[in-house]
Amino acid sequence: MSGPVPELEDRARECASRLCEADEVLLASHIDADGLTSAAIAASALERANVPFETVFEKQLDERAIAAIAAREYETVLFTDFGSGQLDVIGEHEDAGAFTPVIADHHQPADRETEYHLNPLLFGINGASELSGAGASYVLARALAETAEHSGSSDGAVATDGGAEAESSGATESGHTAANGPPAGGTTFRSDNRDLAALAVVGAVGDMQASGGELHGANEGIVEEGVDAGVLETATDLAIYGKQTRPLPKLLEYATDVYIPGISNDSNGALRFLDGLDLELKRDGEWRRWSGLTGEEKQTVASALVQRAVSRGVPASKIDGLVGTSYVLSGEPVGTELRDASEFSTLLNATARYERADVGLGVCLGNREGALERARTLLRNHRKNLSKGIDLVTQEGVTTEEHIQWFDAGDRIRETIVGIVAGMAMGNDGIATDKPIFAFAEKTGSEGDDGEIKVSARGTHSLVRRGLDLSVVMSEAAGAVGGDGGGHDVAAGATVPAGKPSTFIERADEIVGEQLE
Ligand code: C5P
Ligand code: C5P
Ligand code: C5P
Ligand code: ZN
Repeated sequence: MSGPVPELEDRARECASRLCEADEVLLASHIDADGLTSAAIAASALERANVPFETVFEKQLDERAIAAIAAREYETVLFTDFGSGQLDVIGEHEDAGAFTPVIADHHQPADRETEYHLNPLLFGINGASELSGAGASYVLARALAETAEHSGSSDGAVATDGGAEAESSGATESGHTAANGPPAGGTTFRSDNRDLAALAVVGAVGDMQASGGELHGANEGIVEEGVDAGVLETATDLAIYGKQTRPLPKLLEYATDVYIPGISNDSNGALRFLDGLDLELKRDGEWRRWSGLTGEEKQTVASALVQRAVSRGVPASKIDGLVGTSYVLSGEPVGTELRDASEFSTLLNATARYERADVGLGVCLGNREGALERARTLLRNHRKNLSKGIDLVTQEGVTTEEHIQWFDAGDRIRETIVGIVAGMAMGNDGIATDKPIFAFAEKTGSEGDDGEIKVSARGTHSLVRRGLDLSVVMSEAAGAVGGDGGGHDVAAGATVPAGKPSTFIERADEIVGEQLE
């Protein structure tokens, strides 16, 4: 049987066999949408294969975090959505006999190898645009199903009591994820784990791997499996964030990626536009949502929107961006965040980036009562923070160097979301899209972060086509000031000592200049 990404099959099988031999596994993952979906996929697959495990989350897999993991004395540690970039440090613990690492990741690997290392970049697949951490975990999950079946250890029944007892670093509560239904998107348990493809797509979308309106490469193979398994539906649809949950006027007002004068950022304009259509767009006095419109109604609104864009002089190339592929989780109720891959991923970021990874993991694992309500509360807070952050950056503006632009948020934007804010602010007034943006924020909270600064960098796919690789920029510029960084070509991060931003900026500007030459 061949899996969703043939290039990775052999390595995935080796990793799966190793996991099935383990008495107990520590599953460690990253605190963002991709990291949470990675953990949920791995947790479901381990449970179905009857491999006992425990889950922990880390904001950053630095030396301290790896040492803490080693101190837990698990013989096997499964790292998802991180691990490759820290193989140098992990390798030292492996050499010392602390644990055997199994890694399902898509970040740029450090200069060191290990046996059970599943990463698309090792097999000629782009880790920034073709396969996410959740995608790599899904490939592993598919292999686990096969391995467990052959060794006769597979469950063959719906997983209910969740060996997943999530422990989020810094969490105030030890989030139990018991009493779960089937994982997100899945209505039926599948012994081949293909139902987990829905979560893999949420992870890929959360890492912004969809470009030009759709997912590409290995991700497409996963989408296909999800569609076949009945957990995903794809359609050509309006490419605007909030189709499931936002009332129509808000949907249009907040859509600014393709800026339509008189509608984008214009609440009255958006209302007038909708009122001018010959449609019943209110029900019981409330505005309807895109997800509740009929195909015909959608068509009418979309054509009017395109017409308006044309008449206001929006170039055709931009207007194309209004349409894209939507990824819908078929098993989730219409009108909820969970039904749309993009809204689902934002919901997850709203938990994990606020030290409540346990809540997001619970939602992924199908806990539709407590966890979902808590996640929605966190989401309201996350949205407020994003919008405040974007306003702050747009009002204060950025400093423009020859090849890059940057701002320092100090303690006014949380370091865990400053990268999301930077990416979303690009294209606003005074913030260029033809230069990568670098954002600085103070590290606060957990011990050991004293005197350190977080840097997040975001580019665009078009800059990447011209040669930009922010992962290289971050690791070299951070290295030049005694810090540590990495990530992907289009989005990367670093931790640097306080007091040296100017040296870092100079070096980053220089490297970006060379890359874009
Ligand atoms: O660590 P990980 O790979 O999961 O995170 C990638 C991060 O980069 C995500 O937070 C995602 O939102 C961000 N990203 C971005 N713009 C892109 C691609 C990724 O902001 N074009
Ligand atoms: O795709 P985009 O760059 O707009 O997304 C950046 C992040 O913010 C993602 O996590 C996305 O899901 C979220 N988002 C949001 N509200 C919007 C647009 C995006 O919360 N209006
Ligand atoms: O934190 P942020 O969203 O800016 O992270 C962007 C990307 O850079 C993520 O993929 C993250 O895993 C990576 N990163 C890293 N090393 C760091 C900080 C972030 O590899 N010190
Ligand atoms: Zn990722």
